[in-house]
Amino acid sequence: MVEEEHAQSDAMRGAVPPPEDHWRPYADNFRDDPRRAGDPMVQRLLKFLGPNDTLMDVGAGGGRLALPLALHCRGVVAVEPSASMASVLQQQAQESGINNVSLTQSSWEDAQVEPADLVLCSHVVYVIREIDAFIRKLDSHARQRVVIVVYNAPPQSQIYPLWQRVHGQDRLALPSLPQLLEVLEELGIDPQVDELPPQPPRGYDSLQQAVEQLNRRLYLAPDSPEAVRLEQLLPEMVVEKGGVLQIKDAEPLRPSLVWWRPKHPIVGVG
Ligand SMILES: C[S@@+](CC[C@H](N)C(=O)[O-])C[C@H]1O[C@@H](n2cnc3c(N)ncnc32)[C@H](O)[C@@H]1O
Repeated sequence: MVEEEHAQSDAMRGAVPPPEDHWRPYADNFRDDPRRAGDPMVQRLLKFLGPNDTLMDVGAGGGRLALPLALHCRGVVAVEPSASMASVLQQQAQESGINNVSLTQSSWEDAQVEPADLVLCSHVVYVIREIDAFIRKLDSHARQRVVIVVYNAPPQSQIYPLWQRVHGQDRLALPSLPQLLEVLEELGIDPQVDELPPQPPRGYDSLQQAVEQLNRRLYLAPDSPEAVRLEQLLPEMVVEKGGVLQIKDAEPLRPSLVWWRPKHPIVGVG
C-alpha cells in the first residue's frame, strides 16, 4: 500500500523530483507548548511513564509528545530523520529549558540507540515499507512497553475525495490502524487498543490558505488545468465550522493507542 501510494504521488509530480525534506512546509505545525495543560494524549501516555523511566520517541517530529513527556521522566531519546522537524524539536526544547532530550537524527531503520523503558511511535507507521522489521526493532528496544499511536484511517483521508474531482482518479490509501493490527497479529503480538476522542477535521483559516495547502497535497503545478479546477471546485466543497473552513463531510480521525509489553524475540513472519 505504501509503495502504491508513493508511486501515485510520483506520477502526479511528473518531472518535479520529490522534496529532500518532505516535512519542511509542515514542521511548524508540529510545534506545541510542552507545558500545555489538558492534552488527552499526553495525559494518557504519562500513565506509562514513571519519573525514573526513559523514553524513546521514534519519529518524534517537532517534539509535540517527546517534550511534555520529558518533563516527567528521566530522559528522552528522540529519533527523527527530518532536518526541519529535528530543528523545531531542538529549538522548542531550548526555549522551554528542557535539557534531558537527546536527538538522534536518523530513520528508525538506521538508528543505533540503546533500549529505553517506553518506546513510543506516534503517527509514523503509515509510511513504513518494511513494517515487520520496523516493529521488531521497536519491540527489541523496549524494556517495559511499546506504544504506537495511529489513526483509524490515513491522516490525509479527509482530502481523498478531492482526488476524484481534481485528478479523475481515486487516491490510493496508505495503511492505518486496521492494517497495523493485521501486521501485529502476523508477528504474534496481541496488543491492547485504547481509542482516544476523535479529532475535529482539519481547518483552513481562509479559502486562499486551503487552495495553497491543497495544491501541495494534490501535487498541482501552478496554473495547471487541475489547479484551476481545484480553485473553481473548492468553494462548494468546504463548509465553515467553528471559525474555520473544513472539507464537507470530512470524517473526524480517531487516534488509538496500540500497546504491548515487549516480547523479543518476536515469532512470526520473516
Ligand atoms: C506525522 S509526523 C509525527 C510526529 C510526532 N510523532 C507527533 O505525533 O507529533 C511523522 C514523523 O515521522 C518521521 N518519520 C518518517 N519516517 C520515519 C522513519 N523511517 N523512522 C523514524 N521517523 C520517521 C517523520 O520525519 C515525521 O517527523
